[in-house]
Amino acid sequence: MAKRIDVSGLHVYYGDFLAVEDVSMTIEPRSVTAFIGSSGCGKSTFLRTLNRMHEVTPGARVDGKVMLDDMDIYGPDVDPVEVRREVGMVFQKANPFPTMSIYDNVIAGAKLNNKRMSKAKADDLVERSLRGANLWEEVKDRLNKPGAGLSGGQQQRLCIARATAVEPSVLLMDEPCSALDPISTLAIEDLIHKLKEEYTIVIVTHNMQQAARVSDRTAFFNLAGTGKPGRLIEMGETNKIFTKPDEQETENYITGRFG
Ligand SMILES: Nc1ncnc2c1ncn2[C@@H]1O[C@H](COP(=O)(O)OP(=O)(O)OP(=O)(O)O)[C@@H](O)[C@H]1O
Ligand SMILES: [Mg+2]
Repeated sequence: MAKRIDVSGLHVYYGDFLAVEDVSMTIEPRSVTAFIGSSGCGKSTFLRTLNRMHEVTPGARVDGKVMLDDMDIYGPDVDPVEVRREVGMVFQKANPFPTMSIYDNVIAGAKLNNKRMSKAKADDLVERSLRGANLWEEVKDRLNKPGAGLSGGQQQRLCIARATAVEPSVLLMDEPCSALDPISTLAIEDLIHKLKEEYTIVIVTHNMQQAARVSDRTAFFNLAGTGKPGRLIEMGETNKIFTKPDEQETENYITGRFG
């Protein structure tokens, strides 16, 4: 179930380029943490280090430590595939497998972990995951139709169902609503609110109202200039970050005064 993430002294590189410098933070279980900051400050890069997706990019690497409860996810004996099962990810653009049915999309990841899952167990998992993603009622009569035939908001909820079907402890979401209309956005926000009872959730968003609405804690990242690494400027209770942050840089950002 939901686990705590503890990051200490993390530096993130693409080859020689230091993209994110010296981040330490704690991400609490059963809560929503928002990452905010201007474009290019390293939010997505840092997010991907939390489930070892970063190293999939050739030449990319990290220095420092990320603990998932008591597991050092960069430890020598740790399998990155296992880390990604524990720490699921939902991307900006909904990416269901287009030719796969809705049913098969939901079960795809879970099937990889358990190839001999019975039909009854699979049916149950599909229904539970789709219910959990607030999508069941909309798709229960067309489970065998392709995932690509759903609306953008439905596809995003399908991706959330797929991510939760493997029963991760943490869900990372990189701008999950940026391609959605306001109604679908609210549907996803409601869902995030519900999911936090069971998961540790991290969401990257450019939408400040969204950060204020959905998150318990907010981390503000910034960079000193082009070519400079992104840094964590300040992290705290969302209400405090948006009303009386400690740092002038944070204040400038949240009030729309950049630089
Ligand atoms: N695959 C890559 N190879 C090299 N550099 C990269 C790669 N991906 C990102 N970067 C660089 O790392 C830095 C941080 O990028 P990142 O995408 O993490 O920013 P971001 O805060 O998510 O921005 P946005 O809000 O626009 O999504 C940028 O300077 C970017 O150009
Ligand atoms: Mg990004």
